[in-house]
Amino acid sequence: MHDYKIEAADKPTLYRDLASALAGLVEREPDPIANMANAAALIRETLPDVNWAGFYRNVGGELVLGPFQGRPACIRIAFGEGVCGAAAASLQVQRVDDVHAFPGHIACDAASVSELVVPIVRDGELLAVLDLDSPARARFDADDEAGCVKLAEVLAKVL
Ligand code: SME
Repeated sequence: MHDYKIEAADKPTLYRDLASALAGLVEREPDPIANMANAAALIRETLPDVNWAGFYRNVGGELVLGPFQGRPACIRIAFGEGVCGAAAASLQVQRVDDVHAFPGHIACDAASVSELVVPIVRDGELLAVLDLDSPARARFDADDEAGCVKLAEVLAKVL
């Protein structure tokens, strides 16, 4: 068992510690599912006000549900559909303050209000997206985005 208790005074420090803990967790493990599973658990345990943290994998040009922490979610998402599909199609981070105002948003958990989706890309190819949901409006700011981009960079090496 790994006991990671990360507490920090500010978000950049929190994400620096989180990225370092994640790198330690995945560095010697080549199995992508195991690495996504531990990443989802670590992220959900570390970040406050997050009700869903997990992955959709790029399986033949379609997003398919991967390891996550939270309520059961929709399984397949087409590129371009919803917030995750927008991130997959554009390879751009999607940071949405209120998902109810996002065209085509896919509601998996009615409690979710804000969402951050970060593409995980290696050599120009989309491997997966990291998806975080929160019941709070505008939960994710630029520091969260920058921090999660770093997490995606760590994961891109081991998925
Ligand atoms: N809300 C997402 C779907 C995935 S769940 O949030 C886990 C979307 O619109 O892509």
